[in-house]
Amino acid sequence: MKTAVLASGGGTNLQSLIDHWQKGTLAPAELAVVGANVAAAQALERAAKAGIPTFVLAHKSFASREDFDRALAAELRGRGIELVVLAGFMRVLTPAFLGAFPQRVLNIHPALLPSFPGTHAQQQAFDYGVKVTGCTVHFVDAGTDTGPIIGQIAVPVLDSDDEESLRLRILAEEHRLLPAVVRAVAAGRVTVAGRRVCIAGGPLV
Ligand code: GRF
Repeated sequence: MKTAVLASGGGTNLQSLIDHWQKGTLAPAELAVVGANVAAAQALERAAKAGIPTFVLAHKSFASREDFDRALAAELRGRGIELVVLAGFMRVLTPAFLGAFPQRVLNIHPALLPSFPGTHAQQQAFDYGVKVTGCTVHFVDAGTDTGPIIGQIAVPVLDSDDEESLRLRILAEEHRLLPAVVRAVAAGRVTVAGRRVCIAGGPLV
């Protein structure tokens, strides 16, 4: 399944997908392209190093969110993309994009949704004082981090934590969860009925 990864930043989740792809453990997903909305995204360098084609579509050069989303969908459609993974992509996508990839857009979020949606989720969890947080991969809908949940991994919040140590503990689990979900979706193991997502063939991780 031809897969695109969209990112805006450092791209450690992209790197985890690349590592699995290179080992053959992402199949039947194939990393076909990496796109960014900012040219400085380090994710682009990681992709280039792995020989994956890249593109930059600067949201600032579009008059509206919908115009950007239509151009992004056209770019991916033109490349034959069937599955889209948001890995630190800092744009909220509208139906202008999502309509082109129904139930084929995944997002990774660094909290146990529906707790702590939006930005700085790790800090939100830390400041709230929860004892358990984690990461979530979900299908993307038109809300912010509201789509049907495919997989989650929990991590403890330790008394000795600061925001950075917590962020890193969550990130290590993100790097396990995202490839597992991508593989399962590409293999057709994931079905959605309303908000309920079922995964055939045993646990994700
Ligand atoms: C991750 O924490 C992810 O959950 C969130 O953005 C961050 C991206 O990190 N959506 P990276 O660019 O993959 O290192």
